Amino acid sequence: MATTISAFTFLFAFFFIQAVHGAAIGVNYGRLANNLPPPPQVARFLAQTTTITGVKLFDADPFVLQAFAGTNLSINLAIPNELIPKLTNLSFAQHWVHVTILPHIQVTNITRILVGNEILSTANKSLIRSLVPAMQNIHTALTGVELHHRIKVSSTHSLSILSTSTPPSTGQFRKGYDTQMIKPMLSFLRATNSTFMVNAYPFFGCNADTLDYALFRGNTRVFDENTGLVYMNMLDGQLDAVYSAMKLLGFTDIEIVISETGWPSVGDESEAGVDIESARDYNAMLLQHVTSGVGTPLMPNRTFETYIFSLFNEDLKPGPRSERNFGLFHPDMTPVYDIGILRSEGELPMPVRSTVPPEVPDQGQMKQWCIPKLNADIKALQENIDFVCSQGLDCNPILPGGICFSPDITRAHAAYAMNEYFQAFGRNSYNCDFGQTGEITTTDPSYGSCKFN
Ligand SMILES: *[C@@H]1O[C@H](CO)[C@@H](O)[C@H](O)[C@H]1NC(C)=O
Ligand SMILES: *[C@@H]1O[C@H](CO)[C@@H](O)[C@H](O)[C@H]1NC(C)=O
Ligand SMILES: *[C@@H]1O[C@H](CO)[C@@H](O)[C@H](O)[C@H]1NC(C)=O
Ligand SMILES: *[C@@H]1O[C@H](CO)[C@@H](O)[C@H](O)[C@H]1NC(C)=O
Ligand SMILES: *[C@@H]1O[C@H](CO)[C@@H](O)[C@H](O)[C@H]1NC(C)=O
Ligand SMILES: *[C@@H]1O[C@H](CO)[C@@H](O)[C@H](O)[C@H]1NC(C)=O
Repeated sequence: MATTISAFTFLFAFFFIQAVHGAAIGVNYGRLANNLPPPPQVARFLAQTTTITGVKLFDADPFVLQAFAGTNLSINLAIPNELIPKLTNLSFAQHWVHVTILPHIQVTNITRILVGNEILSTANKSLIRSLVPAMQNIHTALTGVELHHRIKVSSTHSLSILSTSTPPSTGQFRKGYDTQMIKPMLSFLRATNSTFMVNAYPFFGCNADTLDYALFRGNTRVFDENTGLVYMNMLDGQLDAVYSAMKLLGFTDIEIVISETGWPSVGDESEAGVDIESARDYNAMLLQHVTSGVGTPLMPNRTFETYIFSLFNEDLKPGPRSERNFGLFHPDMTPVYDIGILRSEGELPMPVRSTVPPEVPDQGQMKQWCIPKLNADIKALQENIDFVCSQGLDCNPILPGGICFSPDITRAHAAYAMNEYFQAFGRNSYNCDFGQTGEITTTDPSYGSCKFN
């Protein structure tokens, strides 16, 4: 009989794991920090010591994509908002896919491209108008290289796309945007069997009175008079508000994915409900809830693919203290708190010391440039050039005939390109990291008529 019991136990465990995997729990891997471990170490850590199955990135950094090679983790990469107008040009989108996606596709499990983040919050009309055409072009480009079945295209939205959200049944998209942008996007998502992605944060939606409701502490109930449904937690309310808004436009068949959610563990004194216990309760209950198969009152009996924000505490994020403390892990990869995603205590790796150099101290008015490290590998530098020039920055000066073409050596061209990137995307150390091949200097690298920005 012992074998029967163990077979039963095995089956039970098997189905449990399947259910959890079916819900695909992932993390947002943000890198607005100067003390994080190198990406290959992070990739190994996630793949070997956690039960996480997906990773969401905020860019398409080739060094990070390379780091996840061979791990099976599904990678959601992002195209920054700034690039969206350029992607309305199909040739550019094809070029981008060739340079950014194709080099990695054999070894890194790229499953989704996210075009822009919270685009409606920018209130930039031209960006908003360009979003769906850009998504369409990326999809067309993927189709051209037969990757459209493997890589889905979507975009992530904040809940401010809704004009009303309580009670959940009254959820609707903001007027104007609903028909101009959301509806064409939903049509695109349906046609390509993609998903609608929302950043849903009960943390930002609650106050002192609704804290327990936000934290899944089941002593608060909210009744929706229109539907007669009872809500036990705020996340369900937020998801059902999105569902109701989609229903108004006739799109209930598109899967909703939680692209970001989380809770900070440390905050300023004025920030209520911010402590380790709350953060752990929220994220642990969240995992249990989205993988349970219970669903929400309006979307019963289903799981939700969910990406916790965030993998690490990120010390360079601006704003209140809580912004820098959403991480599940400290930069040395020790857990801030435990929500049961570690495979087993015994397998925990030794904490590592970051090899990333400390943040360059505030230089006041002193200007900074980004150049290759002296020992940087030429092949890596060529990859830096290809990457930067695929990001819509002007690389004409280092092309034949350009003012910085001579001397025609990779290191010089890389210096120009890497610095363009550093100046365009913000003078932060992580924008000059380039897989540890770049370094910041306060000496102007310009020479002759080749002027560095
Ligand atoms: C890639 O990720 C998807 C989604 O998690 C998964 O279903 C698939 O098995 C992965 N592929 C490989 C080759 O690991
Ligand atoms: C990745 O997935 C493939 C196919 O599903 C499997 O053969 C391989 O062992 C997996 N690799 C790892 C590191 O899990
Ligand atoms: C809108 O975004 C584009 C692309 O980032 C930018 O060039 C433009 O200046 C922005 N417009 C406004 C009004 O901010
Ligand atoms: C479209 O993109 C291609 C490739 O990057 C570029 O050569 C071309 O000039 C762009 N066209 C327009 C109208 O911007
Ligand atoms: C759509 O994608 C889901 C997985 O995300 C898959 O199960 C389903 O078969 C796909 N449908 C079509 C028509 O491709
Ligand atoms: C959800 O599952 C419950 C219990 O299995 C079942 O009674 C109910 O009919 C299901 N609801 C839907 C909409 O499938």
